[in-house]
Amino acid sequence: MGRLVAISNRTAADAGAQAGGLAVAVWDALKATGGLWAGWSGDIVSDSPGSKQFESEDGVSFLLTDMTEDEHDGFYLRYSNSTLWPIFHYRVDLATFDRGAFDHYLAVNERLANLTIEHLREHDMVWVHDYHFLPMADALRRAGWKGRTGFFLHIPFPTPDMFRALPEHSWLARALCQFDLIGFQSESDRTNFERYLVDSLDADASEAPIYTVAGRRVRVGVYPIGIDAAAFEEAARSPAAGDAAARIGRFLGNRDLIIGVDRMDYSKGLPQRFEAVGAFFDNHPELHGKVSVTQIATPSRTKVEEYRQLRYELDQLVGRINGDYGDLDWIPLRYLARSYSRDELAGLFRIARVGLVTPLRDGMNLVAKEYVMAQDPEDPGVLILSEFAGAAEQLHEALIVNPHDRSTLAETIRIALTMPLEERKRRWEALRDVVRRTDIAWWRDLFLNDLRAKI
Ligand code: G6P
Repeated sequence: MGRLVAISNRTAADAGAQAGGLAVAVWDALKATGGLWAGWSGDIVSDSPGSKQFESEDGVSFLLTDMTEDEHDGFYLRYSNSTLWPIFHYRVDLATFDRGAFDHYLAVNERLANLTIEHLREHDMVWVHDYHFLPMADALRRAGWKGRTGFFLHIPFPTPDMFRALPEHSWLARALCQFDLIGFQSESDRTNFERYLVDSLDADASEAPIYTVAGRRVRVGVYPIGIDAAAFEEAARSPAAGDAAARIGRFLGNRDLIIGVDRMDYSKGLPQRFEAVGAFFDNHPELHGKVSVTQIATPSRTKVEEYRQLRYELDQLVGRINGDYGDLDWIPLRYLARSYSRDELAGLFRIARVGLVTPLRDGMNLVAKEYVMAQDPEDPGVLILSEFAGAAEQLHEALIVNPHDRSTLAETIRIALTMPLEERKRRWEALRDVVRRTDIAWWRDLFLNDLRAKI
């Protein structure tokens, strides 16, 4: 049996990525086959980027490369995060288009492909992750690689019209078809991609979900990513979780906690969420002083202008809401621009009466699943979830909302806060069952089984 070889921009060697579900899932599969993980070292150098290879105690090898300043700027900041990210999240208005950035994007894909191929063995299976590496299979094939190669897109795939806004759409989609299997988070992503293949690339769909594009057969599937459900349940009962809950408890007193936890990203709908919180306090003076909203917004991609703008906008908005509604002994909306450990978050989720997960677009959204697993079975909280998160295709028993509709979101917050215990339990048990059943190991096995299968 061959090894599994994973390629992703951030790897488990990255401190930030280590606690994440992806790192755990891929790690197990790599460990089982003595596999290899290739990606970015996290270092930016002024000239000739070095690469290093080392082995972990578990027998997993890492192959990590540095990026030059130009590569980091063109590949990561510009093409990946200022062109692909906004378009794939339906924000063509925020996208910048620049041929130079695309050239860097291709060059980094090619460089990593050439580096990786030197370490590939005949029966290895390659699993590439996310929008940074859409052309990776094409680059590997051009370097002579013929083995099984799959791709999983962690973010949404937009409608064909939106995708066509990319000047390079047709080239990128053809390059994607060099993979043997392309996995998406949701049915809606898959449908968008299939429509694009048929309408724009004249794909033969007669054997769907296998498509033939310019003589090449590619399989397309939906693999909703999960979390390590058991580990998260456990984390919510850890000492660090208890400490975090006690700390916020001192601030809360008897008030109900509503919690949001997101990367500070315009796709997360934070301004809309904050305005809905304002509308909620407008409509419910009787709840002033009785409820507190805490939003953790971890700064992200702070070198990209749109993310700086968002930070500025949120700072202003929170100031206004607290100025309007706050009182001597009450801060209605607390906003913490920093990160917390997984255990601490689990502790906060557990005591939160309501979890607010209202992105404008999201591939899956794992916070929704984490919130569910952290709940106390005897007194579970209520999940409010955007219909535009991939998770909404699975978590039907959440209160599903349109994040643009502020007045309905405000009313949904009231409904969640006053929901009787019996209904909370019924909804939560159904949610927990889904999150447990479709956990991270389930996701990995589903994808890898399809990648192994002959097409
Ligand atoms: C999303 C993407 C990941 C990315 C993460 C953090 O979840 O799907 O690929 O790693 O955001 O973003 P960053 O730019 O810091 O890697």
